[in-house]
Amino acid sequence: MAHWSPQDIPWESFDPARVDADIVKLVKAAAMVEKNSADYATYLCNVFAGDAAFQKAARHWAREEVQHGDVLGRWAEMADADFDFPARFATFQRGYRIDVERVSSVRGSRAGELVARCVVEVGTSSYYSALGDAVNEPVLKAICGRIADDEFRHYKLFHSYLQRYQEAERPSRWAKVKVVAGRIAESDDDELSYAYWAANNQGEPYDRRASAAAYEGLANGLYNRRIVGRGVAMTLDAAGLKADGWLARALSALAWRVMQWRRWRLAHAAA
Ligand SMILES: [Fe+2]
Ligand SMILES: [Fe+2]
Repeated sequence: MAHWSPQDIPWESFDPARVDADIVKLVKAAAMVEKNSADYATYLCNVFAGDAAFQKAARHWAREEVQHGDVLGRWAEMADADFDFPARFATFQRGYRIDVERVSSVRGSRAGELVARCVVEVGTSSYYSALGDAVNEPVLKAICGRIADDEFRHYKLFHSYLQRYQEAERPSRWAKVKVVAGRIAESDDDELSYAYWAANNQGEPYDRRASAAAYEGLANGLYNRRIVGRGVAMTLDAAGLKADGWLARALSALAWRVMQWRRWRLAHAAA
């Protein structure tokens, strides 16, 4: 059972006067990525063949992610009557598919896969926390709160399986740090920029750099230092490192500086 359903969202409270056009663009892009999660369940079930409990949890996880996509897409259709969620999602899927045929993790081991899943959930829990803080439209605020709660639960789910698998596989701390660094580097990959283009283009061809810059230009400014610090602590925990020591403080300060520098650079590139 999901912890909530679309019927729990107070759709009747929708207030068009409080809709922000930039936030609508971000919500449309997020709806694409979330809705695409069914393919990840297929991939995870292949990677964790023989572990029926994890496979069941992964299928449940994917249903929750798809529900995130559905409610975000529905909200975007309310906010922008011209937005055709099924058509836009079909565009996204034509250009972005994950390899569901793989039978072993792209991270090299099951523990590595779980570390990467934790990193993704750090990203989503931080993102919906930040988005929920930033929006004024009451329905979207309610949606973001529910989704953020789910994303924190997802992190805990993958983290609990990580603890189990690392007892069996005994990955080194270095191996886990490498997965974390690799997955963070992939945040710059095609998925989000392509989703942003598929959701928002007005007929112009896909330009990865332009789309990535447009997305980041809107998303980066949502974060505050508290949310970044919590994300760093959760990431360190997934890598098996102390989440509240000097390293956490140093990395949190560094991550915040990097985000601010990227924000400055994007603003100047656009000027
Ligand atoms: Fe999600
Ligand atoms: Fe999630």
